[in-house]
Amino acid sequence: MVTDETGRQAPEGAVEPPISGGPRSISLVVPTYQEGDSLPPLIKRLEGLRSAGWDLELLIVDDDSRDGTEKYIQSLNAPWIRLIIRQEERGLSTAVMRGLDEASHDILVVMDADLSHPPEAIPAFVQALEGGADFVVGSRYVPGGSTEDGWGYLRWVNSKVATVIARPFTRVKDPMSGFLGLRRQTLQQAEDLDPVGYKIGLELIVKCRCDNVAEVPIHFSTRRHGESKLTLKVQQDYLRHILRLARWKYPERSSFIPFAIVGAMGVGVYVALLAILVPLLSDSIGKSWTIAIAILLTMCFNFILDRKLAFWWSPRDQVAGQFLGFLAICSVPVLINFWVTSYFAVDDQMATPLAGVIGAAVGSVLGLVFNWTISRLLIFSRPR
Ligand code: GDD
Ligand code: MN
Repeated sequence: MVTDETGRQAPEGAVEPPISGGPRSISLVVPTYQEGDSLPPLIKRLEGLRSAGWDLELLIVDDDSRDGTEKYIQSLNAPWIRLIIRQEERGLSTAVMRGLDEASHDILVVMDADLSHPPEAIPAFVQALEGGADFVVGSRYVPGGSTEDGWGYLRWVNSKVATVIARPFTRVKDPMSGFLGLRRQTLQQAEDLDPVGYKIGLELIVKCRCDNVAEVPIHFSTRRHGESKLTLKVQQDYLRHILRLARWKYPERSSFIPFAIVGAMGVGVYVALLAILVPLLSDSIGKSWTIAIAILLTMCFNFILDRKLAFWWSPRDQVAGQFLGFLAICSVPVLINFWVTSYFAVDDQMATPLAGVIGAAVGSVLGLVFNWTISRLLIFSRPR
């Protein structure tokens, strides 16, 4: 990148020419929705790159903004600019994927339309890719990078929290960046791409298994035209995206941890049920039957939650069979629980709920690994 003697980024428009012999051809994908006012200044700055010798193809993927974008691009009549208008589909990540699919060059770069991302940093992206990086992001959080003043406290906290949540997937300092670069070859290595939500960069880093991610420092400018599309829904989608990535990258852990949490909750449910049911029922049907009913209800509770949270892949249409299988497998630790609870409670050696705690604790510890392993493999037929 062009920097001045203090190491700061060069002023707008200053561009390094390509090194002779290196690949000069770049496909730049810019997703747009209602960015009509941002496009003229963006294209002007991209022309700066072209005059410096970079062969640039621009693919604008617009979600039918109807804000004059189409007319404006037509009026330019520039062969290096392609406008793709999507009528049916919506969403940032799928728009980016569409642009990447239609790109013709080997070096692929994605950036926002609103000039938050400086196009003058693109040569540094190419340099990083040629230096062996398998992915590049424009980063606010490495030395030399910055964010324009005037970011509200809330937006800053938001960005930081989102970054911390992404930690289990990448060490990149600014994984939220939508300014990214990679080679076509890397993109082709992607497995199970699932472009939901806003953060296609994170999706690509994880699914293309990129270990060597370079961060090019950028100054992130505040948009001058139009509005941000970052809504509450986008933030919810992000959490859903993170959950999917966790299930993809760490399938075992993201099944076992919810299973253990549901198990612990089940102990609470079981003890509460005993506290409620014993005074109600034990005089009429006896303590053993009361304990058995509490156990059965608890197993229903665990089954419903486990099926949704721990065995999320389980087919929707086989609930009855799954429930019977779950009961059968649970019966081993449950019988142990039943026996332990009864042992302490039947002759009123101690209060039944307290005996339940001991019984459930013993049963849970034994059942945790045993139940999870068998349920996962046999009852909910784990994929892959
Ligand atoms: N085609 C299409 N469809 N484009 C969209 C859509 C959509 O549904 N939603 C947003 N875009 C485009 C916008 O027009 C813009 O060019 C770009 O995607 C980013 O949208 P902004 O609304 O400007 O996003 P932001 O500034 O809040 O969010 C950005 O946050 C990061 C850092 O905080 C991200 O998009 C990143 O790119 C950025 O680095
Ligand atoms: Mn923006």
